[in-house]
Amino acid sequence: MREFELVIQGGLVVADTGTTRCDVGVADGRIVALAEKLDNGRQIIDASGLLVLPGGIDSHVHVAQPSGASIIADDFYSGTMSAAFGGTTTILPFALQQRDQSLLEAVQDYHQTAAGRSFVDYSFHPIITNASATVINQELPGLIRDGYRSIKVFMTYENLKLSEFDVLKVMHVAREQGGIVMVHCENDGAICYANEKLEQEGKTAPQFHAALHPAIAEVEAVNRIVVFSEWFSVSVMIVHVSTRGAMESIRRARQRGLKVYGETFPQYLLLTAKELERPGLEGTKYIFSPPPRDEASRDACWEGLSTDVLSVFSSDHCPFRFEGKGGKQTPPVFKGFRAVPNGIPGVETRLPLLFSEGVGRGRITLHQFVALSSTNHAKIYGLYPQKGAIAVGADADLALWDPEREVTISQSVLHHGCDYTPYEGLKVKGWPITTILRGQVIVRDGKLQAQPGTGIYQKQNALFQQYPFAPL
Ligand code: URP
Ligand code: ZN
Ligand code: ZN
Repeated sequence: MREFELVIQGGLVVADTGTTRCDVGVADGRIVALAEKLDNGRQIIDASGLLVLPGGIDSHVHVAQPSGASIIADDFYSGTMSAAFGGTTTILPFALQQRDQSLLEAVQDYHQTAAGRSFVDYSFHPIITNASATVINQELPGLIRDGYRSIKVFMTYENLKLSEFDVLKVMHVAREQGGIVMVHCENDGAICYANEKLEQEGKTAPQFHAALHPAIAEVEAVNRIVVFSEWFSVSVMIVHVSTRGAMESIRRARQRGLKVYGETFPQYLLLTAKELERPGLEGTKYIFSPPPRDEASRDACWEGLSTDVLSVFSSDHCPFRFEGKGGKQTPPVFKGFRAVPNGIPGVETRLPLLFSEGVGRGRITLHQFVALSSTNHAKIYGLYPQKGAIAVGADADLALWDPEREVTISQSVLHHGCDYTPYEGLKVKGWPITTILRGQVIVRDGKLQAQPGTGIYQKQNALFQQYPFAPL
């Protein structure tokens, strides 16, 4: 009889397409058997009463990212530990090119920063902030071919944005080399206009962050990128969708067969602009971009997730501490909310929030939960079927969920480097109690079981969700 390194017995195995009650046999870090009864394991985990899900994949994470005068609160060590406790086994953080840096150097720097520090597997999305001739003609084509297939560009933010001309150059290379372009879609002119008006009117309190990023700025930019995507036949991911208009633009594009994908986050499903009005500087804990919007937008994002318009649910984990030097409360030069670092923590709470508020409240099915939190990320970013699947041959990346476990989210139960959670006091039902990475238990019953360096880099394979190639 075959001996397995690990057998998970008696759980309900859930994939994006179906549910089976079966045991899972693991050897050499991979799933090697799925059968009604498997016994011969050197380690056996009793999963009776638990759900066995593919480990979560979070494809929008910022860790160890240079952020001007502010310091991001997580490096690979604390950020990936937090991910592991939240049932996530792979993250895709960004490798940010600083304006005076080569793109290659930026990616190499991130490799160095991550190596030996990570508890979960990782892959990178390079961010291009300087589309020099060297980047466009040499570095980017090589990087895409080498497995950095998802490239992010910004349409706004002073030190990050690219011109439309440069965005199109990036799109052209992505299309030629088989990449996907992730776009931060907000109309820069609209934001500059709102900024000037707010400053003239002396509106510097955190609540005005919402007015700085009008919904129309997002909708306009999404429409523009959809048009560019069709023109260039290049796959695009519209990151952080927060409005109905953007969601509808993606819906129309997808109905027409365009390779346009959309992403949203917990903050757009659970928070509204009201949070920015909290007394004193408490509102700064909710400053992220695009900002939290109104209840109708919140409903639209839920609708997008349940109708396959939005394909991935990520965290945009971008943690800045509230207290301390450079924190949200005391940015280096306080000139109103504009000086507050943008971003909130969320890598650990992403899945429990979607499970409880989505599956628990009947807004999405359990299969949709798996697709949105894991399988679709792997498919879109070239990691499938090694990741995101419970199938023979796949990596044994698994999260065992207790669907009945009730937890009150609080800073005290989390493992990130941030000093607050935007969801303090929120009660959730359903929690990942064991996280397994390539057959190794990394978290069990609230205890870390792994060493940093357990997580390794994963190259992105050729994307299969591409347009058929045709010369421009
Ligand atoms: O406020 C946010 N989301 N900060 C992270 C940067 C980005 O746009 O992804
Ligand atoms: Zn962004
Ligand atoms: Zn982000």
